[in-house]
Amino acid sequence: MKKDDIVKIVKVTKKTNFNELKDKNVIFNGDVEKTLLCMPEEPIFDLIVSSPPYDIGKTYEKRIPLNEYIAWQKRIIVEMTKRLKDGGSICWEVGNYVENNSIVPLDYLFDPIFRELGFTLRNRIVWHFGHGLNTKRRFSGRYEVVLWYTKGDDYTFNLDDVRIPSKYPGKRYFKGPKKGELSGNPLGKNPEDVWDIPNVKSNHVEKLEHPCQFPVGLIQRLVLALTNKGDMVFDPFSGTASSGVAALLHERKYWGCEIMNEYVEISYERLIETLDGTVKYRPFDKPIYDPSGTALAKYPEEWKQGVEMDEAKD
Ligand SMILES: C[S@@+](CC[C@H](N)C(=O)[O-])C[C@H]1O[C@@H](n2cnc3c(N)ncnc32)[C@H](O)[C@@H]1O
Repeated sequence: MKKDDIVKIVKVTKKTNFNELKDKNVIFNGDVEKTLLCMPEEPIFDLIVSSPPYDIGKTYEKRIPLNEYIAWQKRIIVEMTKRLKDGGSICWEVGNYVENNSIVPLDYLFDPIFRELGFTLRNRIVWHFGHGLNTKRRFSGRYEVVLWYTKGDDYTFNLDDVRIPSKYPGKRYFKGPKKGELSGNPLGKNPEDVWDIPNVKSNHVEKLEHPCQFPVGLIQRLVLALTNKGDMVFDPFSGTASSGVAALLHERKYWGCEIMNEYVEISYERLIETLDGTVKYRPFDKPIYDPSGTALAKYPEEWKQGVEMDEAKD
């Protein structure tokens, strides 16, 4: 792939030649609903993966009533579904809607939309991360979920490409006809549905000028498992193109849509860096840092005298 294979489209219209773009990696700068409505109604995408706005008042969104938010998201999901290939997957990464210290897990609200459209839920992946706000009147949130749906039963699932080291590779059958033989898989074990991947906070190698990037590693595993080389990955709320980095790292094509110009500029640079091999990212198979034994992990002397922790209000 060359630098010319990355294209920014600033104004999408019905006249945009989408056919010409099928071999390119494209960032559409605009509203995703309008962009989708300009695209031909034909199956283009093998994997749609995204983290939509959560309607919680981030800088890039205007808070609206929850029912309006869900109706808006549904319209987008309906349009995307028409452009997803049979056997393709949608991975919807969501957290909680929060109001007055009350949470609504957004996956509750999204699942009926996908089911009504005929999707099958294959996994509800718990993405666990170690850092975030400390809440005072409820337990601090440390996970979000990825809802993985397929369009049909004949779907891509490359388990061998994402296996992780087994805990006990030397384990053997202890009875039956295979007694004494190794019981595991030399390629490793199934990564299961709880994934421990650090979130992108200020000191993360991937941190850019965006308030809520998801880590490239989270998407790498999905891209590797749910698509093949040359397949097309689409992220309708692409932010800094983290999904694009994951797609290009593994020789997939990528289209993303992002409304904010500044994130589109960041995305463009990031995709170029991915192609020339200079992009910074934390690979999905890198073990979690273990701080035990460091000075920071020691119980501080001052706390023995009682110092209050700095906590968030909600
Ligand atoms: C949760 S962030 C996604 C971040 C992304 N996963 C990343 O790693 O950078 C949601 C993104 O959707 C964008 N967005 C919000 N409304 C949009 C719309 N109507 N059309 C396209 N993008 C939109 C926001 O600007 C924001 O960057």
